[in-house]
Formats: sequence, C-alpha cells, structure tokens
Amino acid sequence: MDEITKVTHIDNIKLTDGGKTVTIIDQTQLPNRMVYLTMDTLEDCYDAILKLKVRGAPAIGIFAGYSMYVLCQKYADKPYAEFAAEFHRQKEYLNSSRPTAVNLSWALNRVEALVTGHADSPVSEIVELLGKESVKIHEEDIAMCRKISEYGLSLLHEGDGVLTHCNAGPLATSRYGTAIGPMLLGKEQGMNFHVFSDETRPLLQGARLTSFELQKAGVDVTLICDNMASIVMKNGWVQACFVGCDRIAANGDFANKIGTSGVAILAKHYGIPFYSLGPTSTVDMNCPNGDHIKIELRDPNEIKEKFYAEPMALKEVKCYNPAFDVTDHNLVTGIITEKGICYPPFSESLKKLFE
Ligand code: MRU
Repeated sequence: MDEITKVTHIDNIKLTDGGKTVTIIDQTQLPNRMVYLTMDTLEDCYDAILKLKVRGAPAIGIFAGYSMYVLCQKYADKPYAEFAAEFHRQKEYLNSSRPTAVNLSWALNRVEALVTGHADSPVSEIVELLGKESVKIHEEDIAMCRKISEYGLSLLHEGDGVLTHCNAGPLATSRYGTAIGPMLLGKEQGMNFHVFSDETRPLLQGARLTSFELQKAGVDVTLICDNMASIVMKNGWVQACFVGCDRIAANGDFANKIGTSGVAILAKHYGIPFYSLGPTSTVDMNCPNGDHIKIELRDPNEIKEKFYAEPMALKEVKCYNPAFDVTDHNLVTGIITEKGICYPPFSESLKKLFE
C-alpha cells in the first residue's frame, strides 16, 4: 500500500465484533499515538463526540449512525413501542452532544425515520435495516468525498499554494476528506501543491491532524499559526483557500471551525478565491442564514491549559471559547459539493442541489 492510500483508506470509524461495537481512532491522541477506542454504551458514544475523540462534521454523522445501530441491539427484545421510545431517547441524547454540525442530526434523523416508518415490522427486522442504513451513510460519504475532491481538483493548477483551516481530511470524513481531498487526489495523480495548514487554535486540529495527514501522504505541507495566514497570502504563496463546513445555511453563510471567517476576510483582501467544500448532508435548507446557526461554546481551559505544561493564563481570567464562526456568503467564491460547484447567488444554486 503506498503512502497516499494509507492515508485515504484509514479506518477512522468502523463497526467491530460483528456490529456489536463501534471502533474509532481517538483523534485527541494524534499525531503522537494511534489509539483505537471500541465502545458500545451511550455514555461512551456521547463522550467520544463531546470530547472530539471523533470529530469533523461527516465523521460525527457516520459515527452517530453506527452508534445507534450498536446501542439498539441491546433492547431489540422489547416490543416495538418500548423499542421506539428508547431509540428516541438515546437519539436525542446523542444529538445533544454537539450543536453546530448538522450532519449529527441529519444522520440521527435518517436512522430514526426507519424506526418510525416501520412500526408494523418485527423489531429484529428494524434492527437489520438500521445496520444496513448506517453502513449506507458511511458508503455514501466515501463517494461524496471522492466527488468533492474531483470538483475541487478541477479548480487547481500544478504548483498552486492552498491554505486550509482546521481539519477536513480523511480523519474528519471517510477516505479523501473534503477540503484537503483535492490535494490528496491530485498527489495520487502526480500533481504537486503547497498546502499551508493553519494550526487552528485552540484545539490544534490543523497542527495535529491536517499536517499529519498531508505529511504522511507526501503532500508538501507547511504548518503556520493562525495569525500567519495574512503574511503567506501577501507573499503571493496562496492561490486558493479550501476549508470545510459544519452547516451551510440556505443563503450560503456557513459555520466552520473558529477562525474560518477571518481567513475568508483576508482572502477577499488579497483577491484569493475562497471555497468551502462539503457534502450536501452539510447543507441545511431549513436554516435561512448564518444567524440561525447555534455556535458551540467550549470549556475555557481548552484555551488556558490544554496542550501546555503549565497554565498559560491566570485561573481567574475570563475566556470566550466559541468552537465555530460563521463566514458570510459574500466572502465565498464557491461551495463545492458532490453534486457540483455552487456559485453566487447561493440561495439559488444551493436550492438547485435538492431539486
Ligand atoms: O470541532 P471540530 O474539529 O469537529 O470542527 C471541525 C470543522 O470545523 C471541520 O472543518 C468541518 O467539520 C468539516 S470536516 C469535513
């Protein structure tokens, strides 16, 4: 197996023990340790999402589908009404683990629809359907990432510099990823790019995950601190910005990792095209614009203490730690989905995706 295949075929989420457990790569341990976690309880699945052991919008959706399948087998001997009630309770709990990425509720609603839609079927049959549906969600994501990577690659030229923020690679999805998929696919086809990976404060997804994936795949990657994006753009080293997304509103505003909107503002200033790449499962047509996207607030200690040998701020100092921000659609050159590239006006081009 060559280096790129190793990265693009990484088994970050999978069913194990014949579907009785779900196993993930613990992303909090990377890049220093490759640790696999196997789980079969609601608390462990909830905790895995909350603590970012599994993270990235599509990956959370895939994991949620598998989790519900694993969990529901434990009460598959109950009559339908009890089974459906327990399924709903567990689904709602898992859905409350993180609020911003729509893929979580998208996948959970999708599996729950099977339960409500088969009220007359034996529970054992429903469980079987749930297993198949969870695998389908994963397989669809693999296909979507591949298409997104192809569309993204069609915008790049040999030797281009691309700046990315956070991690929207294989670990956050399946196989190629979204925002770094074009560079992985291009590398596979013998092309060369220079990727600038923002380290992505405070949880360092860019440093720990994106630069890890690209380096291992043999793509030329340079890690920069978030506040260095302006200088590399000014130096003329960036021809395009490719970022992921956690929820795209109907007007093209989109939420992504905190700091993304700053990258978009800089890109506009320097006249650099700025693209968001994500599957249609990340488009939320029920969300009219970015003002309606709930932004997750996280523990201040992620800023003050995490990753430091000793705290880097006084214990009593107040912190504001939003995990995401919303990029205004006016700053976006295009939204790259598996169904094609949407251009402004996004309220029309995004709508067409679902027609
Ligand atoms: O908090 P995280 O690490 O889950 O945030 C992830 C991102 O913002 C990604 O860019 C997004 O989910 C897209 S992953 C294809």
